[in-house]
Amino acid sequence: MKIYFAPLEGVTGYIFRKAYNEIYGHVDKYFAPFITPAENCPITPREKKDITPENNEGMNLVPQILTCRSDHFIESSRELHAMGYKEVNLNLGCPSGTVCAKGKGAGFLQDTSALQKFLDDIYAYSESVGMKISLKTRLGYNEPDEFYALMDIFNAFPISELIVHPRIRTDFYKGDPRKEYFAYALEHAKCPLVYNGNIYTTSDYDEFSSFFGTSLDPVMLGRGLVSDPSLAGKLKGTDTETDFAKLRKLHDTVYHEYQKVMSPDINVLYKMRELWTYWQVLFEGKERDIKRLLKAKKYAEYEAIANRILANGLL
Ligand SMILES: Cc1cc2nc3c(=O)[nH]c(=O)nc-3n(C[C@H](O)[C@H](O)[C@H](O)COP(=O)(O)O)c2cc1C
Repeated sequence: MKIYFAPLEGVTGYIFRKAYNEIYGHVDKYFAPFITPAENCPITPREKKDITPENNEGMNLVPQILTCRSDHFIESSRELHAMGYKEVNLNLGCPSGTVCAKGKGAGFLQDTSALQKFLDDIYAYSESVGMKISLKTRLGYNEPDEFYALMDIFNAFPISELIVHPRIRTDFYKGDPRKEYFAYALEHAKCPLVYNGNIYTTSDYDEFSSFFGTSLDPVMLGRGLVSDPSLAGKLKGTDTETDFAKLRKLHDTVYHEYQKVMSPDINVLYKMRELWTYWQVLFEGKERDIKRLLKAKKYAEYEAIANRILANGLL
């Protein structure tokens, strides 16, 4: 089976991806958090740092673009193509208020005629240069039934893969995924489909697969794979338990790499706190330590608590 790592802006940047890939592996494709092209600036230096091949060695990476302007999308794609990328992904799912207000991300799903024109332009470009374009979409903006019309639109284009997160914009990342709409996609999509949403455990994967009557393959994992980095290995049958020695290594690697590129100390600790909000589910009974760790303001304090928690995982 193929496993894709979902893009999580602020979490799965190049430092995390590289460490994860070296320590765990098992991921067939990584999707980079979105880049947002602007007039005369297809990719900012900061964005470039995240996707430059030298920071992503040994992994299959797909950059993602967030825009509603086809000229901007094409300019960024050209630059990515020149960097050696053969696939780019369009973000049609971001639910953020500022993004949607500009008609991007999930906001773009509201204007189907503009979306159709945009897809006309970008697929004409992709065919001319042989660049694959995949889409990552929600079901709609206000109503899940918007998905029926969207599916008809998508079916008119040579989408390399359609990744569906079966929620609408107003769901953000909460509630149960609207599975029946992914079932509709399975029946009607003319392109390869990828399921994404709320798979945290192998049982979740089995439940979703049995609901759909087919093994979800490929499957895209986001929060579940950050929370339990052994999940990909478990799904592929090479791991049966969460590997706490690897988690320790992942923790130490990203912590030291963040220290090399970030300052002041508190910024590194903010990054680590975000990871711990995912990892905390692995450390039942350690809630008090985790609460303290999430408030730590100095490296020494943070390290003492993190060492205690991580050592506990190895017992
Ligand atoms: C903190 C955070 C950042 C995200 N950043 C992106 C992003 O840059 N691009 C994108 O397509 N989706 C982004 N997503 C959505 C995830 O890729 C994924 O679709 C979502 O979390 C549902 O999958 P999951 O339940 O497996 O996590 C983000 C989600 C979260 C929680």
